[in-house]
Amino acid sequence: MTSVSANDIEFRSVTKLYGSVTAVSDINLAVPKGAFVALLGPSGCGKTTCLRMIGGFEQPSDGTILIDGREMNGVPPYRRPVNMVFQHYALFPHFDVEQNVAYGLKQARPKLAAAEISARAREALEMVRLGGFEKRRIHEMSGGQQQRVALARAIVNKPSVLLLDEPLAALDKKLRTAMQIELQTLQRELGITFVLVTHDQEEALSMSDMVCVMNAGRIVQMAKPQEIYDRPADLFVADFVGKTNRIAATVEAGGATLRLSNGTALAARSGLKPGAATVALRPEAIELVRQSNGSGSQLTGTVTHRIFLGSTAEYQINVDGLGDFLVTADRRSVQESDLVEPGERVVLNFDPGKVHVFPA
Ligand SMILES: Nc1ncnc2c1ncn2[C@@H]1O[C@H](COP(=O)(O)OP(=O)(O)O)[C@@H](O)[C@H]1O
Ligand SMILES: [Mg+2]
Repeated sequence: MTSVSANDIEFRSVTKLYGSVTAVSDINLAVPKGAFVALLGPSGCGKTTCLRMIGGFEQPSDGTILIDGREMNGVPPYRRPVNMVFQHYALFPHFDVEQNVAYGLKQARPKLAAAEISARAREALEMVRLGGFEKRRIHEMSGGQQQRVALARAIVNKPSVLLLDEPLAALDKKLRTAMQIELQTLQRELGITFVLVTHDQEEALSMSDMVCVMNAGRIVQMAKPQEIYDRPADLFVADFVGKTNRIAATVEAGGATLRLSNGTALAARSGLKPGAATVALRPEAIELVRQSNGSGSQLTGTVTHRIFLGSTAEYQINVDGLGDFLVTADRRSVQESDLVEPGERVVLNFDPGKVHVFPA
């Protein structure tokens, strides 16, 4: 089939209702060919519903989904050039690894020759680094290996889009990190579009080239991972993607001054609308300094907790007039003897340019 669109997937004003529940609300989305896109959001925000509509397992209540420029209304799953790795990847326990992977190929019409089926199943298993495991039973495979079998099964018929629903959720942290790297590699090797659903912000940021942050059935921001993190579109994104300190504030008339609720004045970025606002500041954007005398307009506070996290240390600081703040210090840049201790008075230094201001 010749390509008719630069986008593999397009949502045009797609809404999905389940009875009175609006699972997905008026979503517009374009996924370029060959992209690795993550749908990121809390449980129940509509991620799986989006994936199932792309796969053809659900129909939109309103709007249109296009795959490679073709409208998919009424097109059944097996006629779509996509494959899905389900959250609970159901492998056939009584089949061996190769039979599991070959299953879809055996259903193909016109029929494929047995030798070709076997060759293609083995090729898919090589892709997921399971060459040599063809005759193993499913219960003889670890969780991570079973996940790879599910992946091999999904790529064996060479889809142009692979849909992955929380594919790594069942794996422990170490294995998950390893599989994140492998999935990225696999996507590059295959050169096909991946749409990954996850509620894990770290997974979304580390793996994809574009992140769609979802909340309550809507896309709230769609951008490159770094932009999502550095320039969150709203407070929800700032909170959900990474950690953040929230401060009540006012943008003063004229817009040049940002007054925090404890009276501290900061120079405001131009273009802010005067009025009540919420300020978001990342924990790693703050530097802690032992308090010297007479620190002008900076924030001051008392260290209440210190938590070691290996390469970083997290501090809880009770900031004067503002309450609890979280501050992260990269321990590579901090001498052991320079770490401040609970009970110490500190100054919180930060670049006012790193402050995000959202209208209240
Ligand atoms: N088959 C269904 N019937 C009724 N409600 C559903 C069904 N599937 C999902 N929902 C509801 O739609 C919303 C979105 O669900 P889902 O897409 O599974 O979210 P996510 O994958 O982001 O956790 C939730 O409120 C969920 O309860
Ligand atoms: Mg889900």
